Amino acid sequence: MRLNQYALFTSLLVCGSLAWLPGEHRQILSRDGVDLFNRSSLHEAGLLKKRYLPHDYGNDKNAIRGVNLGSLFIVENWLSDDVFKGFGCNSKSEFDCVSSINDQAKANSNFQGHWGSWITKDDFTQMVSYGLNTVRIPVGYWFLESIVDKSEHFPQGGEQYLDEVVGWAKDAGLYVIIVLHGAPGAQATDAFTGQLNSNPGFYGDYNYNRAYQWLEWMTNKVHTNPAYSTVGMLELVNEPERLFDASKYPSVQANTDSMRNTYYPTAWSKIRDAESSLKVSSDSQLSIQMMDQKWGSGDPKQYLTDLYLAAYDDHQYVKYAGVAEDKDAYIKFSCGDNRSGNWPVFVGEWSLSVATDVQWTDAWNPNRDENKDFYRKWWAAQVMSYEKTAQGWVFWTWKTSGSLNDPRWDYKMAVSAGLIPTDIDSAYTMGACS
Ligand SMILES: *[C@@H]1O[C@H](CO)[C@@H](O)[C@H](O)[C@H]1NC(C)=O
Ligand SMILES: *[C@@H]1O[C@H](CO)[C@@H](O)[C@H](O)[C@H]1NC(C)=O
Repeated sequence: MRLNQYALFTSLLVCGSLAWLPGEHRQILSRDGVDLFNRSSLHEAGLLKKRYLPHDYGNDKNAIRGVNLGSLFIVENWLSDDVFKGFGCNSKSEFDCVSSINDQAKANSNFQGHWGSWITKDDFTQMVSYGLNTVRIPVGYWFLESIVDKSEHFPQGGEQYLDEVVGWAKDAGLYVIIVLHGAPGAQATDAFTGQLNSNPGFYGDYNYNRAYQWLEWMTNKVHTNPAYSTVGMLELVNEPERLFDASKYPSVQANTDSMRNTYYPTAWSKIRDAESSLKVSSDSQLSIQMMDQKWGSGDPKQYLTDLYLAAYDDHQYVKYAGVAEDKDAYIKFSCGDNRSGNWPVFVGEWSLSVATDVQWTDAWNPNRDENKDFYRKWWAAQVMSYEKTAQGWVFWTWKTSGSLNDPRWDYKMAVSAGLIPTDIDSAYTMGACS
C-alpha cells in the first residue's frame, strides 16, 4: 500500500545517502531528499512550494524533536497562573475569564497583550539552538470568530497573533503542527479546551460543522499565507474523551464512536476538498493527525477510506502510568516504553513530571543537585524510546510562568536547570538504558 511504499522508499533513500551515526538527528529529509532542517537547502528547493512531509521521518535519524506552545493561544491556569491574575480574573478557563472581565474590549486587549509578548521571536531561535526542529501549536476554535456563538465568551483578535507566531517559527526553520486543541462545545472536561464543560458538547453535528469550517479556514491559510509554509500537519482534535473512563462509559462510547465514524472522515474530506480547490499538489498536502489508538478513543482509522499522509498523536505522561515511585523503575520503564503501533506516530505530549505525591520530596525535587542526574537520564531514556519506537516527540511544554515554577513541565527552564542538555544527541551517550 501507499504508506508502506513511502516507508520503504524513505528508508532506502536515507540509508543510501547517510551513514548512521547516533547524533545525526538534525537532518529531516523530504521525500525527494531535501534537508528540510537546513535553511539554505530549503531556500534552494523553493521553500514556499514544499510542504514538510512527516512521513519522511519514519526512522530514528529524522525524528521530530519539538516543543508545544502550551498556554500561549489557550491559556491554562495551572501552567501560567500569573496570566489570568494579571487580567484580574480568578478563573480556570478562558471562557470563565472573559465572562468575569465582562467587557469584551478589555478582555481582548488583555489577551492580545499576552499573545504578543509571552513567546517572542527569540524563543524560536533559542529552540533551534537547542536542536529542536518542531513546534506544536494548540489553537482554539474561537480564532475563527465567525463560528463563535453570541453565548460563548472568548477573546477576539487572535488571528493576527497566530499568523505572526507561525511566521516566527517558519523564519527559524521549524516544522509546525497545528492542533485544534479547543473544539467547539469542548471535546473534554478540561480547561485545555478553553472552557470547563462537565458534559462535553463537541460530539454532534452542530459542533462538528463548526469544526469543519475551522479546519477549512486553517487549510486555506496554510496553503495561501506564506507564513504557514512550514506548517505540515493539522491535528483534527486534541485529547477527545476516552473509553477507559469507566464512570462515563455509555456517553463516552457514543461520543467517540461518532467522532470516529462521522467527524474524522468528514473532517478528512473537508481538508482534502479545500486542497483540491486550491490545486495543491499531492506532495504539498497536509498530514492529517488524529490521536493514536493508545489514547483510548478507539481506532482512529477504522472509518477512513484514505490514509495518505495520515499521522497519529501519542501522549505519554509517565507521571500517570502507575510506575513504582523509584528512580530506577522510572528509567527502566521509559527505556522499555515501546510507543509503536500506527505509523507514523509522534509522542506529541510528554514531560519530566513524576508522581504527584512524591514530586516535591527531597528525593525527587528537580532543583536539588543530587537529583539532576536522574532527570537527565530519564529525559534521555524517553528521548531514545520516542525516537526509536515512534517517529519523534514534542515536549509539553516550551514555557510556563507564575507559581508553577517546575522545570519538569518547562523545556526552557529544564535547560537552564541542567535537566535537559542543549545537545539532544547526547541522550544516546549517557548510558541511560545500558
Ligand atoms: C545546507 O545546505 C547548503 C545548500 O544546499 C549546503 O551547502 C550546506 O552544506 C548544508 N549544510 C549542512 C549542515 O548540511
Ligand atoms: C516495538 O513493538 C513493535 C510492535 O510490536 C515491534 O515491531 C518493535 O520491534 C518494537 N520495538 C522495540 C525497540 O522493541
